[in-house]
Amino acid sequence: MVKIAVLGYGVVGSGVAELCDNNAGLDKKAGDKVEVKYILDLRDFENDKYADKIIKDFSLIENDPEISVVAEAIGGCGAAYEFTKKCLAAGKSVVTSNKELVAEKGTELLKLAEENGVSYLFEASVGGGIPIIRPLLSCLSADRIDKIVGILNGTTNYILTKMKNEGISFADALKNAQALGYAERDPSADVEGKDSCRKICILASLAFGKRVPPETVFVKGITEISVADIDAAAAKGYAIKLLGYAERTGEEVSIFVCPCAVSLSSPIASIDDVFNGISVWGSAVGEVTFCGRGAGKLPTASAVCADIASVINGTAQEQPATWKDCGGDFVRKFNINEYKCLEGTSVPIIIE
Ligand code: HSE
Repeated sequence: MVKIAVLGYGVVGSGVAELCDNNAGLDKKAGDKVEVKYILDLRDFENDKYADKIIKDFSLIENDPEISVVAEAIGGCGAAYEFTKKCLAAGKSVVTSNKELVAEKGTELLKLAEENGVSYLFEASVGGGIPIIRPLLSCLSADRIDKIVGILNGTTNYILTKMKNEGISFADALKNAQALGYAERDPSADVEGKDSCRKICILASLAFGKRVPPETVFVKGITEISVADIDAAAAKGYAIKLLGYAERTGEEVSIFVCPCAVSLSSPIASIDDVFNGISVWGSAVGEVTFCGRGAGKLPTASAVCADIASVINGTAQEQPATWKDCGGDFVRKFNINEYKCLEGTSVPIIIE
């Protein structure tokens, strides 16, 4: 039996607890039964199924030698950062869905993990349940990655899909997405593109080997997109998607987040609802597209638990994520004039 701790009992944390308890593959892949011993959360959950595991004192986890893996699902760069550092320093591997923390502090946390002979894994931080980090690290390791274009936020893809298919307002579609547990606690991170920015920064840092600081990236969200824009794009054979874009351009990297027009014939155009889609161009493989549920309780828990399994069965140590931190000078400034825009709009056409 391997005992783990979960930090944060929100959508993702509760999904991890549920999946550890009732899974069709985790124990087998881990090679041992995985049991949640502690769930850390400051709130009270009196009648909850796991009420007996919920604690408020982090030091119980930090000082418990029985805990070798911790799933961080608090989010943000506050308590999550402090607890992650303490866990790694105490020789415990940490797995997470926290894209903000990985994008902001990933370099330091990966180094700390290495120094302590443990792992810091974040498959769930990009694309929810879609395998994308490990494919970049291992399956595509023979390729030079030249470009990544992705729908990286489930909430905004859900909103744009509802606006397109049902003509409902942006505000109503956002309320639905929040009710389904897709949106961030502060949904402005979704609709203003910050969440997509963190995710494309993580992917670009892995693909190009240099940390892309989120503050160097041009970011525009979907708040100005109307049903009329979506209909006009469709009439011309395009879908409007919020894309994260990263391309190797010589020594530089062109990277941005922006609502974009993509040809209806491209694989990404038909990826709707909460689904995310990520196309990667490798020097040998050509274009490959990954698609799946980009947000939600069990899809995200699926990726977190796969990381737990890989820590326990030892495969996590084989190809650890890594990138250099050398500032952001290699990030090229976004210039919309380099792109043709949909007639009468400022929506660039990214896939013809
Ligand atoms: N709010 C995020 C999304 C959750 O909608 O994609 C998953 O990172």
